[in-house]
Amino acid sequence: MMLRMLHENNEFNLDLPQRPRRRRRTPAMRELVRETRLTAQQLIYPLFVHDGVDEPIDAMPGCNRWSLDGLCDEVGRAAALGIGAVVLFPKVDDKYKSSTADEAYNPVGLIPQAVTRIKLEYPDVLVITDVALDPYSSDGHDGIVDDNGEILNDETVQVLCKQALMHAQAGADIVAPSDMMDGRVAAIRQTLDANGYESVSIMSYSAKYASAFYGPFRGALDSAPKSNGQGGKKIPSDKLTYQMDPANAREAITETLLDEAEGADIVMVKPAGPYLDIIQRITQVTTLPIAAYQVSGEYLMIKAASESGWVDEKKIVIESLTAIARAGADMILTYYAPQAAQWLAEK
Ligand code: PBG
Repeated sequence: MMLRMLHENNEFNLDLPQRPRRRRRTPAMRELVRETRLTAQQLIYPLFVHDGVDEPIDAMPGCNRWSLDGLCDEVGRAAALGIGAVVLFPKVDDKYKSSTADEAYNPVGLIPQAVTRIKLEYPDVLVITDVALDPYSSDGHDGIVDDNGEILNDETVQVLCKQALMHAQAGADIVAPSDMMDGRVAAIRQTLDANGYESVSIMSYSAKYASAFYGPFRGALDSAPKSNGQGGKKIPSDKLTYQMDPANAREAITETLLDEAEGADIVMVKPAGPYLDIIQRITQVTTLPIAAYQVSGEYLMIKAASESGWVDEKKIVIESLTAIARAGADMILTYYAPQAAQWLAEK
């Protein structure tokens, strides 16, 4: 029948009721039907701070270790681009590291100083702090390592509570436990509440995978697991006994529901790009806001390919962030935050 029609009219017309291309005809039409809108306001900017001058990070081209002054200026620059939240990571001098990571809750340490400064200069910017022991651990682990090389769960949680409380006292709006110890969200919630910090939120790294994509970050902070400790102490060379197996998806649901029940205000999936299925599955099981972390390895794969001229950096960054949002992330932690905000404003 179609062939006869073609023959008779000498033209090709499929007579389709639905032609999806009608909705892609013009920029205005595409804007109208767009399902995911990326905004600067949903981006969270991870920043590195140290006790020293501003310096580029070799392991993460395009990122810097900031002095307290440099950090504040960078927060101001990001805020002017519409970014409303930053997350802070400290690069700690070896002399402050120990196997018990006591520096993690030093009230006059680097992080409380940074939080106080930012909240003073930019009170409207949300300051998120990382709750985990690795930057302060001479063993390079998120928890305390015993003499047999075990990562001690409950002992670690006790230290994390002190750390989170100290962050709240310094003025943090949100504390973000990234350590993956069991029960830490409940313990931190109780500690904050018992000390009058009911209004400080918890963003929990709920489904955090043991990922090779964190490699550059550990270089930036000098926080990778150490190969051998003092006195021949056994130290696990990986984080597989606390971070999740990349092969598991249902376990991400278990972790997320536990954190929700324990009092998390926001849950997180990390890494983001290679774990879009996990983000999508989490949207089906929780009504909490979902964050996703485009981690250092994801950042650097884009950066390296862009600098080689192999891909268009701007387009690929916007596409990768849009895909993470499309999968179901309400907010995205990304080292590209200010650049992406700038690009979104130009568009
Ligand atoms: C550790 C922590 C890590 C990252 C954030 N917090 C590294 C790790 O778990 O080993 C990774 C972030 C990134 O790679 O960008 N508490």
